[in-house]
Amino acid sequence: MSTEATGLDQQALKSQNDAAQAVVEQKIIIRGGKPLRGTVRVGGAKNAVLKMMAGALLTKDVSILRNVPNLTDVYMMAEVIRYLGAKVEITEGQVVIDARDVRDTEAPYELVSQLRASIVVLGPLLSRFRKAKVSLPGGCAIGERRIDLHERGLKMLGAEVKIEHGYVYANTEKLVGTRIHLDRPSNGATENIMMAAVLAEGQTIIENAAQDPEIVNLADFLIAMGAKIQGAGSYSITIDGVSQDELHGVTFDTIPDRLEAGTFILAVLATGGEIVVEGANPHHLYSLMSKVSEMGGEISMYAPDTMKIRSDGLNKGTDITTLPYPGFPTDLQAPLMAVLTIAEGTSILSETIYENRYGHVPELRRMGADVALTGNAAVVKGVPRLTGAEVKATDLRAAGALIIAGLAAEGITEVSGLVHLDRGYEHLESKLRNLGADIWRR
Ligand code: EPU
Repeated sequence: MSTEATGLDQQALKSQNDAAQAVVEQKIIIRGGKPLRGTVRVGGAKNAVLKMMAGALLTKDVSILRNVPNLTDVYMMAEVIRYLGAKVEITEGQVVIDARDVRDTEAPYELVSQLRASIVVLGPLLSRFRKAKVSLPGGCAIGERRIDLHERGLKMLGAEVKIEHGYVYANTEKLVGTRIHLDRPSNGATENIMMAAVLAEGQTIIENAAQDPEIVNLADFLIAMGAKIQGAGSYSITIDGVSQDELHGVTFDTIPDRLEAGTFILAVLATGGEIVVEGANPHHLYSLMSKVSEMGGEISMYAPDTMKIRSDGLNKGTDITTLPYPGFPTDLQAPLMAVLTIAEGTSILSETIYENRYGHVPELRRMGADVALTGNAAVVKGVPRLTGAEVKATDLRAAGALIIAGLAAEGITEVSGLVHLDRGYEHLESKLRNLGADIWRR
């Protein structure tokens, strides 16, 4: 990386930081109690697009991603791959990545620490350049978030991997395919190993792979690029290595964000009303849809990408355990809890993916929720109403939860910690305003 380029990146990073600082001081204000009505369109899936941006590094060509959401995480990932030498242009809903001149194989702490997902550049860099040095992301509000499975998988492919001075160093003369069984179906490990295997020699089989739709989207993107991958979305993914010349740039669509769709669905349960969610894939939301019916909401599928949800705002409590896909997603645990705080009866939520994903609980309590935590379980006793309060989001999905709680609460709720919100929800307040919510940013 030349000094000049580093200087440019520093400047870009500074302006990102300044923008984030401005957001730190902002709040979302909600006057609760209005039912939601109307139509909302969800954007592209953050957790797919970030990985495809990293995947674009595999080819010495230009890739175009479409249906890209306008999120700070997308801008941060653009900074990371720019740092590596890619040219990245972001326009409305689209990212163009020219990875022809990527030369650098080092992703530094100052970038990776701001975007944990950037650890997925490790697989593509190692695959294309046979070496990579990627900072460990550091602390996280929701859990430990280890990368031991990434490390072990890459070692099994023949890389030497060591962690020193806060960095993962990976080097190899060549990667050779093998059978890798993951102890748990980690998204990040599946993505890193799958991308590393694209240019490896021979066949790699990932067993107990993550089956999330975002993994399928990434695999389809890589296949369109020329990679040979089968089985994404199932227990076992097979990758037959190809040569660098067989990969080429593509234009590719990001799938809809099922977590954004899920957040709107849960919001209408909390407030009552009727909404149509467009651009969502109901097949990605079965675990939530069955809970919605159990709680008393009416949910129906229209066209392949449209859902209608109706609720009188009076919900029955339910129990859930968060599980890897297709189980109930951990990312909707907090938004669901917001609804259950005012549902009838007692609900028990068990969080099995993260050790510490209950940052929203003390904030919901400030609004009158009755939630007790014991180990990884939350016991939620429904109360007749929440009351508006000043609350602070501790992570992205906690932000979604507090906004849902605010929409249903009596009086004014002020949500701070919007840096988290803007990482993963595109224009949430204006989309809710279009559905009739009394919500604004200040
Ligand atoms: N884990 C390990 N070792 C590993 C990898 C993971 O112990 O090597 C553990 C983690 O500590 C965690 C669990 O396994 O407790 C799940 O981790 P996973 O690797 O599946 O998650 P991730 O890839 O780091 C993605 C999403 C998360 C989402 C999880 C689970 C992105 C950018 N992030 O994280 O979304 O919660 O999968 O579905 O794709 C978010 O969007 O803000 C977010 C946190």
